[in-house]
Parts: sequence; structure tokens; C-alpha cells
Amino acid sequence: MTTKTERKRDKNFITMAIETSCDETSAAILRGDREIMSNVISSQIDIHRAYGGVVPEIASRHHLENINGVVETAMEEAGVSWEDINLIGVTYGPGLSGALVIGVAAAKAYSVAKGIPLIGVNHMHGHMAAAYGAYSNLEPPFISLVVSGGHTNIVKVKSYTEFEVLGATRDDAIGEAYDKVARVLGLGYPGGPKIDKLAKEGDGTAVEFKRTWLEKGTYDFSFSGIKTGVLNYVNTENQAGREVNKADVAASFQEAVVEVVSTKTMEAVRKEGMDTLVLAGGVAANSRLSQVMKTICERENVKLCIPPAIMCTDNAGMVAIAAHYEFMERGGDGLDLDAVSGLDI
Ligand code: KG4
Ligand code: ZN
Repeated sequence: MTTKTERKRDKNFITMAIETSCDETSAAILRGDREIMSNVISSQIDIHRAYGGVVPEIASRHHLENINGVVETAMEEAGVSWEDINLIGVTYGPGLSGALVIGVAAAKAYSVAKGIPLIGVNHMHGHMAAAYGAYSNLEPPFISLVVSGGHTNIVKVKSYTEFEVLGATRDDAIGEAYDKVARVLGLGYPGGPKIDKLAKEGDGTAVEFKRTWLEKGTYDFSFSGIKTGVLNYVNTENQAGREVNKADVAASFQEAVVEVVSTKTMEAVRKEGMDTLVLAGGVAANSRLSQVMKTICERENVKLCIPPAIMCTDNAGMVAIAAHYEFMERGGDGLDLDAVSGLDI
């Protein structure tokens, strides 16, 4: 009988994971608990760009067309065959129902056909687990700021499998606000990376957008106000016949959201007495957010972990890491595993 810790260190334990919660079809192979051997991501961004956002029906269809090829490529790149694989992990929520269903169905089919245990993974746990792949000594507990297209959360990661949400957005997710502001500025989809890039040429103090702090002491967020603020500003300038300096607007918007997010996150780090902060999710790839966080964390002696950009946006590598820890803790799931679109952290 092996103990949980011994199994966790078993370098020969191979996990294959699948991620299809939104518009990336991804499969990865993980050795042990943290060594990512391959992480194949087939992005549909070029297809959805024409519509200005992800079209759920189109996403599902492309997942269905791509999933087997992506899994085969991940296995080839890692140099493993089905006999080597000990566990199949799959994102079962949160995300787009029709997109999740494709990944879950594929994972179940492989599990049955190849006789390999199956486990469902919470996509948000995956985002937080991404940092383990990049920081070999990182151990819970820590605070994680999870910032993506669908979520904005400050989470206390108590153990590899226990999470407490300290704060959440009450309206738009931060990535959603980035995407909507980008649309107002005519920058195209996905807007986050475009605003990030354009803001580098702008002045973050040019326009004073109102910061939404909510009640004193809360770790919750609200981003709908600033989104409307940007829209109103652009409309007013246009109506007055003044040319809008898009770089200044992008930089000023970014400065406002980064200030709120970084301030609340550091309050949580201090209050919870944590010495480590992990950034997670697509918006963790934002250069201004990481710059501001680095400065504050250095000053306050907090260890800051930011996974490489490819592990911040949706990918199956992060799902594989979370799948491994989850399986060591509670064992696998049955074939009744189902997609749960609105799954909580
Ligand atoms: O985690 P993710 O890939 O998908 C979700 O689970 O939502 O996050 C996607 C979000 C999008 O809103 C995208 O605009 C944003 O992350 N994003 C960024 C950057 N890169 C991606 N936002 C700001 N700056 C970036 N560099
Ligand atoms: Zn995500």
C-alpha cells in the first residue's frame, strides 16, 4: 500500500488531460505531479474573431473535429502510448456547456476503450495549478488571484484540493471588461492582449476613470462601471468632434483596473498572513498587472509566482496538474461524470 505522498512523488505516473471549456481544444501529458511533457493547444481564435467573440455552437463543432487529433499529437510529442497512461483528466466545468460536453465525452470514451481511470477537473482549479508546473518548490497554502475571461477571484488555496473564495466579481469578469473596452476602441477580439500592447504607448494618467472599491473591507470586485465609463468617455469625445487617443484610453483603463485588483489582492495576502501570491488565468499574462504586482511583492517581501503566458491562458497542462493532485486525494470519477457549466470554485 503506497501512501498519498509516495504516490505523489511517483515520477512514472502519467496523466493525459483534455481541456475544451471555451475556444481552445487542448490535450497534455504530465509525468509525476509537475513535469509537463507536452501541451498541445489548438486555438479557434481566428475563427471566432470574425464574430467579435466566441460563438458557442461553432466552438463545440471545432472541438469535435479537433479533439482526437489534438490528443494524438500530445501523445506523440510526449513519446507515450496508451499503455503508459495511468489517468485521464478532463475539465468538466465551468465553461460553455456544448464545449465542455465534447471534452468530457472524449475523455470517457478513451477511459472505457483503454481501461484507464477518469477524473473530472474544475477549470478554475486548473488555472491555479498552472503555477506548480513553473515553480517546482511551490506548495500551498497561498493566495491566488484568478483573473480570466469568465472569472475574477481572490482565492485562499489551503491545500492542493481545498479552496476558499475570499472575493469575486459582482458583475463582469476582468477579462470580459478588457474585451468589451477593446471593442469600444475598435481593437478587435480578443481584446486583452491588444489593450496590453497599445497601453504601452499611452499615458495611464491621461483619463481619470473612476475606480470601484465597493464596501470597505470587501474583496469583491465590480468592473461594469469602468466599462461604461470608457464607453461614455469615447462617445462624449466623438460627439464633441475630438479625436480619441486610443493608447491613452487603453492605458488609463488598465491603470484603473490594475490598481483595484492589486490593492485588494495585497490586502487579502496581508490579512491571511500569507507569504506567497500566485497569479492565474488569461489576464495574469497582462504585462502591467505583473509589473505592478512585482513591485508591491518585492517591497512587502511576498513571493510572487506568475506562470508563463502559455500556462496562464486555457491549456490542458494546467488541467493535468490539477487532475493528478485531485486523483491522489479522492480517486477517480465514474462514467456518470457530466459537464457542469456553472461549476463554482
Ligand atoms: O483564462 P482564459 O484563457 O480563458 C477563460 O477561462 O476565460 O482568459 C481569457 C481572457 C480574455 O478575456 C483575454 O482578453 C484575456 O484573458 N487576456 C488578457 C491578456 N491575455 C489574455 N487580458 C489582458 N492582458 C493580456 N495580456
Ligand atoms: Zn480559463
